[in-house]
Amino acid sequence: MTSRTCLSIILAAGEGTRMKSAKPKVMHEIAGLPMISHVMGAAQAAGAGDVALVVGNGAEAVLKAVPEGTEHVVQQERLGTAHAVLAARAAIARGYDDVLVMFGDTPLVEPSVLNSARASLANGAAVVVIGFRPANPAGYGRLIEDGEKLVAIREDKDCSEAERAIDFCNSGLMAMSGADALSLLDAVGNANAKGEFYLTDVVAIANQNGLPVVALEASYENALGINNRAELAEAEAIWQARKRRAMMLDGVTLTAPDTVFFAHDTEIAADALIEPHVVFGPGVKITGNAKIRAFSHLEGATVGGGCEVGPYARLRPGAVLGAKAKVGNFCEVKNATIEAGAKVNHLSYIGDARVGANANIGAGTITCNYDGYSKFITDIGANAFVGSNSALVAPLKIGDGAYIASGSVITEDVPEDALAFGRARQKTLPERGRQLRERRAAAKK
Ligand code: UD1
Ligand code: MG
Repeated sequence: MTSRTCLSIILAAGEGTRMKSAKPKVMHEIAGLPMISHVMGAAQAAGAGDVALVVGNGAEAVLKAVPEGTEHVVQQERLGTAHAVLAARAAIARGYDDVLVMFGDTPLVEPSVLNSARASLANGAAVVVIGFRPANPAGYGRLIEDGEKLVAIREDKDCSEAERAIDFCNSGLMAMSGADALSLLDAVGNANAKGEFYLTDVVAIANQNGLPVVALEASYENALGINNRAELAEAEAIWQARKRRAMMLDGVTLTAPDTVFFAHDTEIAADALIEPHVVFGPGVKITGNAKIRAFSHLEGATVGGGCEVGPYARLRPGAVLGAKAKVGNFCEVKNATIEAGAKVNHLSYIGDARVGANANIGAGTITCNYDGYSKFITDIGANAFVGSNSALVAPLKIGDGAYIASGSVITEDVPEDALAFGRARQKTLPERGRQLRERRAAAKK
């Protein structure tokens, strides 16, 4: 990485009308993280984390999504991309070696692309434009080259027929040498089809001043701009494909990768196995060689090595599974620790609880943790055995090694090694079944 200083100006003032949404465009999420945070993350990873955010529409919401203290400026009137960049004039004037301009709605840009743009500046370019070749160039600015030189960017609406046939397009990502940035930007006018101050005009202006300008080509993914929900879904798909591949290369087995969905912060250790149709919400960490079986949904959960989860399990925030714990089919675990070797295998709800090491929770066990007003804790000791279809009414403490009879409703603490019944005693009346049947049959004649 270079030792040059860098300012990243991220444009996020747009209205995003085509999203048809109450929230600002850059707040729409990919892998559970707002687009603006993806862009900021890429800048950070490229050592370009000195950010000036240009906000306008929905500024308050956008500022909530970014780290506190992130430098921002409000663009009061939207007069074009150059005008937006100049809203950050004071930041540029502090004097950086490199100035990067990024769009808040281009979330899949990779740090390597930013690095290559900066490397070009370090090699003497005054302006670097990241271009790409979309299947349909309509609407994009076209890059007009002369040999190695980028001589101009022409916006779609201002193109001649011949220029419109060019398929090399402006992604929007641009790098400028900090020494030239302000004078280039200040020279931009608005005599064009839209009457806007186009950032893209700095290319022609730099050429007029004899400054070197180059275009670098990036993949379609890197340049994908999001304007509507269909493009948002496309970006999500690309992000997921990248993540699945990265996971597999890091040693995670995905039996059917296309059916597994990760969040931006999912962490999975090598040798874990993820079966088909598993969804990871934010905040999941799998710390060892666990097996997550088909159709499970995990969010805010930590899973230890040797664990087995699912099929059809739901781990909600605060679920922590110790080594070799098991949470089986149709079980839900929320804000609960299932300690090493404990089993919750069938049709249970364990919420606001601790299940001690090697305890066994029988099928259909429910922790009754909520009285409609407050939540209460159920604490189950190591090696306890909770019989099937028990209701554990919290607050409740079940001691180590205690035994709960099946079908119990347990409302009082159970000491260590005790056996507790919380159910009506069974009464069996010999022959009464047959008598009943005969009486009914006679009455029906
Ligand atoms: C821009 C580029 C075009 C490029 C395309 C890539 C210019 C003049 N054109 O066109 O060459 O191919 O992006 O997607 O730069 N914004 C503000 N304030 C403004 C205007 C825009 O913050 O006053 C923000 C928008 O929110 C958006 C970005 O800048 O994030 C780009 O603006 P947009 O109007 O979408 O430009 P395009 O016409 O798409
Ligand atoms: Mg656009």
